[in-house]
Amino acid sequence: MMIPIVTLSGNFKSLIACSIIAFFVLSGVQTKAQTPEAEKNFQACKVCHNISGPKLIGPSLSGILERRDKAWIYKFVRNSTEVVQSGDAYAVKIFEENNKIPMPPHNLTDAQIDDILAFINNGGKVAAEYIVAVPENEAEKLEKEMVAERELLAEKQADMKRDANRSFGTTFYITLAILLIVLIDLFGTKIIKAKFVHTTVILISLFVIGEIMYKEAAALGRQQYYQPDQPIWFSHKVHADQNKIDCLYCHSTAEESKYAGVPPTNVCLNCHSVVRQGKITGTTEIAKIYQAIETGKPVEWIKVHNLPDHVFFSHAQHVKAGKLACAQCHGDVNTMNVVMQVNDLSMGWCIDCHRKTEVQFADNTFYQAYKELHEKVKSGEIKKVTADMVGGTDCMKCHY
Ligand code: HEC
Ligand code: HEC
Ligand code: HEC
Ligand code: HEC
Ligand code: HEC
Ligand code: HEC
Repeated sequence: MMIPIVTLSGNFKSLIACSIIAFFVLSGVQTKAQTPEAEKNFQACKVCHNISGPKLIGPSLSGILERRDKAWIYKFVRNSTEVVQSGDAYAVKIFEENNKIPMPPHNLTDAQIDDILAFINNGGKVAAEYIVAVPENEAEKLEKEMVAERELLAEKQADMKRDANRSFGTTFYITLAILLIVLIDLFGTKIIKAKFVHTTVILISLFVIGEIMYKEAAALGRQQYYQPDQPIWFSHKVHADQNKIDCLYCHSTAEESKYAGVPPTNVCLNCHSVVRQGKITGTTEIAKIYQAIETGKPVEWIKVHNLPDHVFFSHAQHVKAGKLACAQCHGDVNTMNVVMQVNDLSMGWCIDCHRKTEVQFADNTFYQAYKELHEKVKSGEIKKVTADMVGGTDCMKCHY
């Protein structure tokens, strides 16, 4: 009879120990809140909710934890329509107050919603521990550099546009005409007596024509500065810049897959089921989204960037492993109302960057296989590892 008592008190001890551990674990969850992930998840809410300040499409969310308990919020965020339809008095009331606009469902876990709530509670700021401290003047310098970089890019884009509009066509035909006139004179009319004039003009025109033909032939199949009109006037400036929607919200496969992908029309509906009007285009362009959904026909976006079939290119490799920013290859898309291809996507462009760009070698498991290079970096024999050293110029890496 003694034994069970001993084990009972043993169990009791471990029960206390468990509770203590559980308490710390749970409070650990609490302090883990307002992470950068919350900021990212809140992007999806921001279109319709201010934290404080005027009501947008939905009510401002500060003080929400005083109005509602967490269990209610979880249910409402995941499927508000269900809560409203269940007859919940509070839900019905706010639904009616907000012009009966249903809040779209969000596929978030309890922990993710907790995190968002902590982020809201903190006035829309990530917890201090997640903010990398940058000394004051350092931060200023960075800001200045970023502004300068933006300006430079804007200038470059303007230059590119000008270049793109400049066509070699007129020069080509004028030179051809001069060449013909001189040839006719040389063999027929003989108005100009000095033969060296003919020879000089012929040589110069042949050179100019040759140069133009070479340039055009090399660029054949490439489409730098290509900027087609799209079936819907979709502006990256409005979405990515003015409304700060993350690139990965729409191009969600860029980190895991070969393709960055263009979002299906359902993703547009996440917001446009309620945002029915734009400041620039009114209702005409957004109406095309509803039309696509009704007819079941996907929007036929025109692909801007196109590599030939014999080239292998992977976004995951560059965005995830290489940690490159979209702008390094696509330019400042967030300033574009209509997307333009700013780089020529030539083989020289790829290789040039591979020669110059350092890979994130140090603690990247992706590169563990390169023992020899690691040794050399350690011994100081080489200072940095660029993409070409890990195979970035091997023909077979880029060509099938
Ligand atoms: C497309 C617009 C839209 C988006 C996006 C949206 N909401 Fe809402 N939300 C609403 C509307 C409208 C209401 C008012 C209730 C209703 O009409 O159903 C609301 C109500 C709420 C409420 C209750 C507010 C109160 O004062 O009681 C909470 C909490 C909430 N939303 C959280 C979120 C969170 C968290 C997200 C992001 C994960 C989000 N919402 C995204 C439109 C939106
Ligand atoms: C190293 C250069 C590079 C980087 C970095 C890069 N891209 Fe691309 N992107 C390309 C090239 C090259 C293509 C053309 C691919 C093809 O035609 O096969 C492309 C194509 C695309 C397309 C067209 C659809 C597709 O998947 O082919 C989208 C959308 C896109 N990129 C978005 C992005 C976004 C968003 C990012 C940042 C998360 C990004 N890209 C980063 C080079 C890059
Ligand atoms: C995360 C929310 C969100 C998503 C997703 C979204 N939009 Fe928008 N969209 C907005 C907001 C906010 C506006 C700005 C409305 C305004 O002008 O005040 C807007 C504006 C627009 C406009 C009008 C622009 C103007 O100013 O006239 C068009 C057209 C549009 N979106 C198309 C699309 C398409 C197509 C998709 C899907 C590929 C999409 N949107 C996805 C939030 C979103
Ligand atoms: C709200 C959704 C949305 C967001 C946010 C968004 N895009 Fe896009 N993106 C699209 C759609 C839709 C298209 C296809 C229509 C077009 O080309 O304008 C597209 C096209 C592109 C293309 C051209 C693809 C091609 O056909 O070659 C690039 C590059 C691109 N996006 C990069 C970005 C970058 C970089 C960001 C972040 C700064 C971003 N996108 C943010 C929806 C979005
Ligand atoms: C802005 C710089 C940049 C541009 C432009 C660029 N790359 Fe890269 N690329 C990198 C970096 C950095 C790495 C190494 C990191 C990694 O493995 O992703 C890399 C790696 C690669 C690899 C993997 C090599 C290996 O070791 O397996 C391939 C394949 C590749 N790039 C193809 C291309 C192609 C094709 C293009 C042109 C259409 C291109 N890249 C344009 C920066 C660039
Ligand atoms: C970093 C990626 C990369 C590597 C490495 C690479 N290529 Fe290319 N290659 C490309 C791209 C991108 C194109 C398409 C260029 C275009 O459309 O103008 C191309 C085009 C070509 C073409 C077609 C002709 C042309 O200019 O369009 C040939 C042939 C070729 N490559 C051979 C090679 C050989 C041989 C090697 C090895 C010495 C090699 N490539 C290594 C990316 C690469």
